[in-house]
Amino acid sequence: MSDERPEIKYTKIFIDNEWRDSLSKKTFPTINPSTGEKICDVAEGDKADVDEAVKAAQRAFELGSEWRKMDASQRGRLLSKLADLIERDRDYLAKLESLDSGKPYNDTLNGDLPFAIKCYRYYAGFADKIHGKTIPIDGDYFCYTRHEPVGVVGAIIPWNFPLVLQSWKLAPALCCGNVVVMKPAEQTPLTALYFASLIKEAGFPPGVVNIVPGYGPTAGAAISEHMNVDKVAFTGSTEVGKLIMQAAGKSNLKNVTLELGGKSPIIVFADADLDEAVEVCHWALFFNMGECCTAGSRTFVEESIYDEFVKRSVARARQRNVGDPFNLKVNQGPQIDGEQLTKIMDLIRSGKEEGAKLECGGNRIGDKGFFVEPTVFSNVQDGMRIAKEEIFGPVQQIIKFKTLEEVVQRANETPYGLAAGVVTRDVNTALTISHSLRAGTIWVNCFHATQSQASFGGFKQSGVGRELGEYGLQQYSEVKTVTIKISEKNS
Ligand code: NAI
Ligand code: MG
Repeated sequence: MSDERPEIKYTKIFIDNEWRDSLSKKTFPTINPSTGEKICDVAEGDKADVDEAVKAAQRAFELGSEWRKMDASQRGRLLSKLADLIERDRDYLAKLESLDSGKPYNDTLNGDLPFAIKCYRYYAGFADKIHGKTIPIDGDYFCYTRHEPVGVVGAIIPWNFPLVLQSWKLAPALCCGNVVVMKPAEQTPLTALYFASLIKEAGFPPGVVNIVPGYGPTAGAAISEHMNVDKVAFTGSTEVGKLIMQAAGKSNLKNVTLELGGKSPIIVFADADLDEAVEVCHWALFFNMGECCTAGSRTFVEESIYDEFVKRSVARARQRNVGDPFNLKVNQGPQIDGEQLTKIMDLIRSGKEEGAKLECGGNRIGDKGFFVEPTVFSNVQDGMRIAKEEIFGPVQQIIKFKTLEEVVQRANETPYGLAAGVVTRDVNTALTISHSLRAGTIWVNCFHATQSQASFGGFKQSGVGRELGEYGLQQYSEVKTVTIKISEKNS
């Protein structure tokens, strides 16, 4: 048991490396999802505060500013320093993340924190390796490209991986020399605000990173509608992703990258090692309470091993340890809030009503906090809501298939295309599936193996653009072509 609860140090808006109340003086409560009780009140940013943050970012981005004149290698050093500071405070940050989000402390300390730190280090190394090309255009010209920062980047992030998703946006944005106005999710503002203090300590000039906690339709919308925000990077629901694109279209045609929902298939062939397959599929779904955009939430299993697979998956789900995220034996904490709990319970009810077989779980645990029993459904049919809609909870759907051709077609029959998995020992099957599924990431005999070096993002309605890796830098830079006429006259 790690009983020590973290002290809350920062609850205000961070602009120009200083802490401020919101202009309206309003605050909002952030809730501990394990108890449903308030942790503390946080300054509630709104349009007026976003305006101030954007102005600060614009000042930091002015030609000739400290940030614009800074050597790229120095930007890399600042990012490196930031990574070191996060590492120094990782235990505190992990506790704060667990308190605010309900994620098991073991997971935040050993999963989220190292992932975020590595992301900052990865892009720290890239800062002075972003270069353009020289291009042999026709005629007597010298033509080259520069990769310049986009400008003011608005980052809007969700609550399921607050520190990690923040790093996915901030690290490449800063690496390329942009300035940022970030809005953390209203459910989980605390680690972002502590992180702000590390931005200052690392030595980033005022205004380079500004953090405005607040709600989506107010502070979030103010960012996506803003005439002086040059780009928005968003992670969250497909529904809000569409609103953000519309807001960009209605305002200044800002660049938009979106990381949205999913209903990712994971396909198990009969040749697989059964226990390994059960474990991969269990992890694919139950990791992070099922609150994962990539969750493997349609488990397709070949007919001949279906019954045994279901039996072992149920036994595996029953081993989950649900409870207080600060208990080191716990690997499943609460869902994030009452809204998510209601959504999950409604989908479970629909599964039962539509004729899926509830193999285990299916209930809320207790009446304090937002805990849900690990739940497994068998006999799931493609048309059921639980097979079509993103549940974002600990609810596994096991679906039967007969042939490879059939399962490829069924797996692709979804508006989403974020990730997919295949479990097989046959290399031809693995490759055929990998090349046939319309998804941004394919995992073979593994799942959730996302790392900073490799790109991540969605086909179809799972997103626009890619994050992470070298590809991720493209979304944070503008390519400028410079063409110089070479005169024949030698002076
Ligand atoms: P959401 O998409 O509403 O929230 C994500 C972020 O967007 C938050 O910071 C929120 O304040 C902001 N936001 C909300 N409305 C906005 C608007 N009109 N303009 C600008 N920003 C806005 O997601 P929510 O309501 O927390 O969860 C709903 C569902 O979305 C979940 O059940 C899940 O299915 C999905 N989701 C997917 C995530 C992913 O990782 N792709 C993360 C969180 C939720
Ligand atoms: Mg919402």
